[in-house]
Amino acid sequence: MPERSATALASPNIALIKYWGNRDHALRLPVSPSISFNLAELSTQTTVVWDSSLDTDHVFIDGQEVTEDSYRRVVRHLEHVRELARHRGSARVESSSNFPAGVGIASSASAFAALSLAATAALGLSLSERELSILARLGSGSASRSVPGGFVAWYAGDRHEESYAETFAPPDHWLLVDLVVVVSRAHKKTGSTSGHALAVTSPLQAARVAGAQERFDACQRAVLTRDFAGLARVVELDSNLMHSVMMTSDPPLFYWQPATLTIIEAIRRWREEDALEACYTIDAGPNVHCICTAESADTVEGRLRALPGVLDVLRATPGGPARLMTPCPQTR
Ligand code: DP6
Repeated sequence: MPERSATALASPNIALIKYWGNRDHALRLPVSPSISFNLAELSTQTTVVWDSSLDTDHVFIDGQEVTEDSYRRVVRHLEHVRELARHRGSARVESSSNFPAGVGIASSASAFAALSLAATAALGLSLSERELSILARLGSGSASRSVPGGFVAWYAGDRHEESYAETFAPPDHWLLVDLVVVVSRAHKKTGSTSGHALAVTSPLQAARVAGAQERFDACQRAVLTRDFAGLARVVELDSNLMHSVMMTSDPPLFYWQPATLTIIEAIRRWREEDALEACYTIDAGPNVHCICTAESADTVEGRLRALPGVLDVLRATPGGPARLMTPCPQTR
């Protein structure tokens, strides 16, 4: 049988309402729903070649063949695809991202969204967006949100087929900007997967989960009505709650550094005293995502760059869905 290949492109996303903790770790069924938007300027491109001459899978990330943890995680995902397509062959996977690792942007979201699309398309499966989101979720929870475009809601669901993400507003609905403020490029000690498993050990997780649907609704309303004050309130609260859970887990997870707090305080001050439309949200690391309106973005970016401890600021805007790259005849 000839080689069967496809290439897909997907963007990472930033969560406005966070995913932290699973009710089922193997299926990555989250304990609460979340909301995000894709980051248009950033992407992961993945080519999957199902090659009958291979007797084992090979995985290359940014040009390097990977082994151990990353390899096993990709192979586990290919197993799901083999099962769906009733296919037994091995694949060569080549993936590269246009954003550096360790800058506070989860590459697993774009990576597993692109992998899911490329691997299934290469075998001739054409999954619906919902099916693809469900499949991507098995590789990385947040990858379910990188499948649809624009402003996205991931429903927690009680069962495998009910836990998927979908668009509730297109990318151009609201021209928000995510200024990713880099204060450290060090690799985090505890990754998200181990973090999700610890969430249940925090006495605060039950309270966080109890209010999650209310925050989800408030965030969705704020996005739909372009209410920045409402958005800032719920986005910061939700991020603070997640970090409170992290800090009170057993063992505790402290992701912040002194510069993280300096940035949080500055953003709050600029919003309150200077009426700049900016708020913060922080993932499992010390870098801060400063969400602002297009009107405030230049001023806020200039001020962020002047703060002590800031190494870089990346800029991203709401982006589209994961997509297949059509083969370009000239390059063949
Ligand atoms: C803090 O999706 O990276 O960024 O399912 O184990 O791959 P895995 O976890 P992941 O968790 C993301 C956690 C977060 C919050 C969020 O993006 O919602």
